[in-house]
Amino acid sequence: MTVYTASCTAPVNIATLKYWGKRDKALNLPTNSSISVTLSQKDLRTLTTASASSDYTSDKLWLNGKEESLESPRSKACLQDLRQLRAQVEASNSDLPKLSQYKLHIVSENNFPTAAGLASSAAGFAALVSSIAKLYKLPQDMSELSKIARKGSGSACRSLFGGFVAWEMGESIDGEDSKAVEVAPLSHWPTLKAAILVVSDDKKDTPSTSGMQLTVATSDLFQYRIKDVVPKRFEEMKSAILAKDFEKFAELTMKDSNSFHAVCLDSYPPIFYLNDTSKKIIKLVHKLNELEGKIIAAYTFDAGPNAVIYYDESNEQKVLGLLNTYFGSLGGWESYQGETLPKLEIEGTDS
Ligand code: DP6
Repeated sequence: MTVYTASCTAPVNIATLKYWGKRDKALNLPTNSSISVTLSQKDLRTLTTASASSDYTSDKLWLNGKEESLESPRSKACLQDLRQLRAQVEASNSDLPKLSQYKLHIVSENNFPTAAGLASSAAGFAALVSSIAKLYKLPQDMSELSKIARKGSGSACRSLFGGFVAWEMGESIDGEDSKAVEVAPLSHWPTLKAAILVVSDDKKDTPSTSGMQLTVATSDLFQYRIKDVVPKRFEEMKSAILAKDFEKFAELTMKDSNSFHAVCLDSYPPIFYLNDTSKKIIKLVHKLNELEGKIIAAYTFDAGPNAVIYYDESNEQKVLGLLNTYFGSLGGWESYQGETLPKLEIEGTDS
């Protein structure tokens, strides 16, 4: 039997301006634009191999060695879009195998524990989409593919680029302008690092999707956040990144993390993602910055209690030294930023 295969890795990204709220649940269209930093694939990544064969009888997925369903509307939407694009390629070249009609087998593995509360769905859907795009030899660029990854998980669209990435919310109802774009590549600010502190590896209390739906439906503060706070912050954060202004970038990052957790608390019933340890980390970072007389570290928290601390390499000893003194017993990683996924020029192989 002929099996066509292609493999791809995709990195984790951590938002510094948070995506929280959908205006369209089926298409994963957000209520605000967001910004993230892509972490190095040396530290955190998903490796996915996609294969297609006329002998396969159904689409299948194995995640970290365990078979999982590909039947969710999100996975189906991604596969459908990719098959459609492949069908267009096949229509213009009748010599190509009709991979768009074959079933797919996907094998995916993280090099970090899925339960660590990190954004594994972002790297997961980014790797799924890019490995199939590579298998299908699709000509689309990363921003185009980001629209497909977005349908899998909103934050996944940002994992197709390295360095600093913006997800522009767009305005259209079909989501054609809701895509990820590069703000600056890794080479722009290579000394920016992130430390991840695993406060808890429990499964999330409230999954992001249902959490944000509740916030949209019940929080008054949320309306203020998306109308009056985030649009201005989005522009300011992009400028701070382009100017490599760490203090401004750090201040905006911390304020946005706090704003996101505030709208969670303002949801009804309230959603709590931070725990006592998270709050101690917040206090410690502010104390450190106060003692230094300038901002040298910034915290951010996603939909869980784990902390990501941004700092410049030049301050690594101070920042990690202090975190280690107080929270040395917690597991974690330190990471540089990662690069944009390689272009899709590597050939799929027959076997
Ligand atoms: C707090 O991308 O996981 O990490 O689109 O429903 O899959 P879905 O949500 P998801 O939400 C991420 C929320 C966040 C903030 C962010 O990454 O921007």
